[in-house]
Amino acid sequence: MKPDPSQPAILYAPPSWFERLDWARVFPKTQPIEVDLGCGDGTLLLHWARKLPDRNWLGVERLKGRILKLERKAPRLGITGNLRGLRIESSYAIEWLFPPASVAACHIYFPDPWPKKRHHKRRLFQPEFVAALHRTLVVGGHVNLATDHREYFARMLEVFSAAAGFARVEPLVPATPEDMTDFERDFVAEGRPVHRARFRKT
Ligand SMILES: C[S@@+](CC[C@H](N)C(=O)[O-])C[C@H]1O[C@@H](n2cnc3c(N)ncnc32)[C@H](O)[C@@H]1O
Repeated sequence: MKPDPSQPAILYAPPSWFERLDWARVFPKTQPIEVDLGCGDGTLLLHWARKLPDRNWLGVERLKGRILKLERKAPRLGITGNLRGLRIESSYAIEWLFPPASVAACHIYFPDPWPKKRHHKRRLFQPEFVAALHRTLVVGGHVNLATDHREYFARMLEVFSAAAGFARVEPLVPATPEDMTDFERDFVAEGRPVHRARFRKT
């Protein structure tokens, strides 16, 4: 099916928020899909979409002001076909919008740590979320994580090790500052350690 011509270039609003996306309507070309959950203003996505045009890139972000930056910047950089943004909550997207076994990689960088114990239930990394990530990925697909928050990182590892069907593999390490997210650049500049992990769907 052809992409919907009524849609703006970058931000995507599906015909129904209650049915799974049809990737053929989101991206004009069928190629592997990578998703950045909580992408902020999408600086890293813009870089990747230019660097790796043979992949489709989707940013998911709940804040309108941030995701709108993607809409503004992408056309200026000549990016149109292989980048889209979705303004929605990440776990809803993973649980209800993405078709099963359809995503090649998920990137989750510096998710809000909600450090107070009484707020832990608001954290993204819960067993149900990791199970939904597993359903969404193709076999051999990856989840890439980075955080500056040591305790939250330990919790992420715990949730992954309790989940079935993931193998921990060598993490992706940014080769250049352009391969870092905005948050990561700030943390690295401050000399703060960044914890990374990568899991492959077996
Ligand atoms: C700390 S920032 C990190 C942004 C970006 N990943 C980076 O590394 O520069 C976290 C981002 O995730 C977004 N966010 C937090 N929880 C979210 C959720 N449940 N669904 C979608 N976006 C979320 C926030 O609005 C914010 O833009």
